[in-house]
Amino acid sequence: MASVEPVVFVHGGAGTISSDAKARQLVEGAKRAARAGYKTLTSGGSVVDAVQIAVELMENDPIFNAGLGSVLNVEGEVEMDASIMVGADLSAGAVTVVKDIKNPIALARLVMEKTSHVLLAGDGAKKFALSHGMVPLEPGALATDATREALDKWRAKQSEVPAVLGTVGAVAIDSEGRLAAATSTGGREGKLAGRSSDTCMIGSGTYADDKIGAVSTTGHGETIAKFCLAHAIIKAMENGEGADRATNSCIEKMTERLNNTAGAITLSCKGEVGVGFSTNRMSWAYVKGDQLHFGVDRNKKEFEKL
Ligand code: GLY
Ligand code: GLY
Repeated sequence: MASVEPVVFVHGGAGTISSDAKARQLVEGAKRAARAGYKTLTSGGSVVDAVQIAVELMENDPIFNAGLGSVLNVEGEVEMDASIMVGADLSAGAVTVVKDIKNPIALARLVMEKTSHVLLAGDGAKKFALSHGMVPLEPGALATDATREALDKWRAKQSEVPAVLGTVGAVAIDSEGRLAAATSTGGREGKLAGRSSDTCMIGSGTYADDKIGAVSTTGHGETIAKFCLAHAIIKAMENGEGADRATNSCIEKMTERLNNTAGAITLSCKGEVGVGFSTNRMSWAYVKGDQLHFGVDRNKKEFEKL
């Protein structure tokens, strides 16, 4: 097959990001993750390594709602979801309601590679992590002062609308046209204990198929799950829409049908990029060739030379 220009594309979550300073921080974090993923890919790593490294970097950065800095559920605990998929053979792995694990995306990859299952949950997922040498953190270690304060505010208002939405994700393509996608989240602030999100659902939060493309989504999880947003975008591409058109048309249809918001990043099997969101902002960044492209505001795309 014709050679494709490699791309590593990440998002740092879609939502109501009202502070410009926070928006800037999220973009800077997304840029770091895109660069790290691209470096992995161009120094001998696979597309799966690239999306995992990019997502882990954001899980380890407390500004993002994944890993350290995940939002708290109604009981004040962190429960995380993640999923990963390989486009060559549709291998997929996911975890849900995982506590005290530093990098849920690494655990999702272990589920993909070391079990015959697609999704492990809660205590079973943790037991599996331990049996593969992962060391659990102290209970509460992934909560931060910022997430504790945010939960207090949410409780005081008892609002249905959480202050923090967002998820992190990455998609990558290599020069052979191999694709992978990965997504990780702390979920929705104030959620019920035990709630699973779109992020652990293959076809909603994550999808990759070398014959078509790869997608990672972010936003209101229940809405994304009902619409199977990632797979809807894949289907739209299969039916002839380009990556950007497919991403934006599906998000638009989802928002029209279900009156809630989301965002997504997409790569087609030819390496075309698509980015869209129906929230006010979504941080994203990708590296292609010697250029780093990025943005957070609607209709504003920037780039710089690496
Ligand atoms: N479809 C039911 C099961 O696989 O457990
Ligand atoms: N999309 C992430 C969540 O709703 O939990």
